[in-house]
Amino acid sequence: MDKFVVRGGNPLLGTIKVSGAKNSALPCMAAAILTADEVVLENIPQVRDIETERKLLESMGAQVELGYGRAQHRTTIQCAILSDPVAKYEIVKTMRASSLVLGPLVARTGMARVALPGGCSIGDRPIDLHLKGLELMGAKITQDHGYLQATADRLKGAHIVFDKITVTGTEDLLMAATMAEGETLMENCAQEPEVTDLAAMLIGMGAKIEGAGTSTIRVTGVDKLHGVRHRINPDRIEAGTFLVAGAISGGDLNVDCCNPEHLAAVIQKLEECGVRMDVGKENIRVRSEGGKLRAADITTVEYPGFPTDMQAQYMALATQSEGTSTITENIFENRFMHVSELSRMGADIKVQGRTATVRGRTPLSSAAVMCSDLRASASLVLAALVADGETILDRVYHIDRGYEHIEEKLRGVGAQIRRMGDVFGKK
Ligand code: EPZ
Repeated sequence: MDKFVVRGGNPLLGTIKVSGAKNSALPCMAAAILTADEVVLENIPQVRDIETERKLLESMGAQVELGYGRAQHRTTIQCAILSDPVAKYEIVKTMRASSLVLGPLVARTGMARVALPGGCSIGDRPIDLHLKGLELMGAKITQDHGYLQATADRLKGAHIVFDKITVTGTEDLLMAATMAEGETLMENCAQEPEVTDLAAMLIGMGAKIEGAGTSTIRVTGVDKLHGVRHRINPDRIEAGTFLVAGAISGGDLNVDCCNPEHLAAVIQKLEECGVRMDVGKENIRVRSEGGKLRAADITTVEYPGFPTDMQAQYMALATQSEGTSTITENIFENRFMHVSELSRMGADIKVQGRTATVRGRTPLSSAAVMCSDLRASASLVLAALVADGETILDRVYHIDRGYEHIEEKLRGVGAQIRRMGDVFGKK
């Protein structure tokens, strides 16, 4: 299992490029199921979850090309024949976002068998709201041997009000509704940019969608969708992670190829902490100017509020901020796995239920730490950038799920970070 070795102390200087958004690419790849035509997606990030999605689509009979050559980062997908519309457990257990194929499969083939995703380290991750919406659209849902089966001759438009705001639930049912018979009205929808990105792709395929990016989405079903070439949004969470890297390391970092509009809550919070940022059209320059970081509280909420996917990264910064920062995690029930590892590096953090209280500034010292989930891993990399000495991060496959070559990108702006293959593993 690969490890990262990070020696702290270098300010990050220069320009770091943001890749395409994993959480846009995953639903957009699933949307290719809705047509027999070829779909081309550009700005695809080279991360493990995308490779998993490729395997998943191929296992169902799709042709998938995935290229990361110099100017590529492109995938071409053609679901001409879906010979086996089953999302198998071996794949689903490694990526719960596999449930995104549920809606498109039922809409395109009338049947879907998807292994129950099961939980992950940050929470149970149920998909009951996906299923409730499909049932309202006329699908028959059964469960056996750890698999869900959804069947429908043709889905019918319905009025769906989500009990809770769910990003992939909104995306799954949006895709299903594009080819349902009649109108679908969805309320209490997720407003994340990834939903808007997916809707833009679907409209490019001939879907009739209004209101994506708001809490109310209207869809008029069509009989058929055609191919499309679509460019994936920049990854707002990777961009936010790099903003924190520039601030925590006391550097002068230009975060390029991003969309600052998707980061308003993060930018505002970092400014409250005393971080200096110059916001451009497609870049943000972050400078610490040697000033002290000030503590500030955060509460994670759905978009456009402060994103749960930035909570762990913000906590690393809070350890270096003067004062007490209160961090409340409202979205997932167990998203403080990074706390114990940060504490082993010297952070002063107390957890009470969904709230973590961070007292700063505490000097961090290097340690051997364990990555537990994607964003917790990012938090540990950020902490290691300022820790005294050499930190070893184990199980970095977690970070490879959602960050493209993060060690190369950080090294390119002065971080002392390298990947260490397992002694007996590949070189
Ligand atoms: C998406 O997960 C993202 N993943 C997550 O990013 C992100 O943290 C999350 O949205 C919240 O923003 C992808 O887009 C692939 P939810 P998702 O459904 O859709 C509950 C990362 O780090 N819920 O919005 O699975 C659920 O338990 C990942 O990139 C139900 O109860 O999250 C949670 O408490 C991690 N029933 C809340 O809703 C359901 O049917 C929000 O979950 C669905 C969700």
